[in-house]
Amino acid sequence: MRRAAITGWGDYTPPAVLTNEDLASVIDTTDEWIRSRSGIKERRISHVSNAEMATAAARQALAAADLAAEEMDLIIVATCSPDRAVPSVAAYVQRQLGGLGATMDLNAACSGFVYAMSVANGMIAAGTVERALIIGAERLSSFLDLQDRSTAVLFGDGAGAVVVEATEGPHGLLSSNLHSDGSLTEILTIRGAGTEGVFEAEVPLTVDMEGREVFRNAVTRMSEGAVVAIDNAGLQVEDIDVLISHQANIRIIDATARRLNVDPDTVYTNIHAYGNTSAASIPIALSEALDRGVVSPGDVLAMVAFGGGLTWGALVLRWGDRVERLRTVDHDLPGTEKTGLEVLASRVQGLGI
Ligand code: UT7
Repeated sequence: MRRAAITGWGDYTPPAVLTNEDLASVIDTTDEWIRSRSGIKERRISHVSNAEMATAAARQALAAADLAAEEMDLIIVATCSPDRAVPSVAAYVQRQLGGLGATMDLNAACSGFVYAMSVANGMIAAGTVERALIIGAERLSSFLDLQDRSTAVLFGDGAGAVVVEATEGPHGLLSSNLHSDGSLTEILTIRGAGTEGVFEAEVPLTVDMEGREVFRNAVTRMSEGAVVAIDNAGLQVEDIDVLISHQANIRIIDATARRLNVDPDTVYTNIHAYGNTSAASIPIALSEALDRGVVSPGDVLAMVAFGGGLTWGALVLRWGDRVERLRTVDHDLPGTEKTGLEVLASRVQGLGI
């Protein structure tokens, strides 16, 4: 059976750090509250555009696979924070890197990377695509509402990318399971950033979230999705070597792992360092896990995500033989000496610093 196998990976996490203490200096919150309720200690704030982050992660992934952008038949950027409505972030990535393959953005909120992998796998299985670049990239700090402490402390910026190639071998994506419950659109929504905000001045930019409802649904739906995906792959929960969940809240990740009854040692987390980077969180975690030697040849990986929609999804894949990058490249983006708070202050009015 022809399917997608990951042969390259990369990430870009902006250098400007925004700590819990920094946030506590401008809004009514504490490091203790944020850490105990979410597991987040700090997050990154981007001084460059979404497309620049996406391109930086993609460059690394292409080098790791030792492939050129011109060899990509498809670029998908999973994002809900594109720089512009048109063209897509993916088109800008192609503008930077080259090539004439198809480009598109995919918005399934925080489930976007899992969705995009499944879409690419379907196109590979159908024979229309040989190689694709799948990127998760978000600049959610653009939506940060400092008036709302319940959401302002959760999100961060970053990008992760993988190169997938068609394989007939035993490795690659074994199964995927995608769902959405449209009756829950209002429990997690960003208002004022779409066309309603263009025509209706009274629609302010806000992240509206019923945290507890999202939490409850996330745990139930991600574990249900994972069970189905594992079963469809012909495997058991005990076969999972590495579980990478969307990094939204350490309590959600732990509760999902407990519900699934997976060995806690298989769960990879980095939410403490980056917060919730939405569609970027899984590919950043994957890239980091590979570079830290967490993934071994032949390992079975499960990836689970949930997000606004309410969307959710799970992937199960078997890793191939290679867990090292074929080539490495340094990021070529301009750096910044600013802290995360200073980058934010340059965009957010009334921050008072
Ligand atoms: O990618 C998907 C994105 N969304 C999520 O994953 C969100 C899922 N939900 C969650 O992660 C959690 O619900 C939160 C971390 C958002 C909140 O944790 P919680 O344990 O559900 O807290 P809560 O919303 O029930 O709030 C508890 C208290 C409230 O005060 P009262 O009413 O008990 O007096 C809040 O006003 O904590 C207060 N609170 C804060 N206090 C200090 C809310 N935000 C903050 C804050 N600092 N930043």
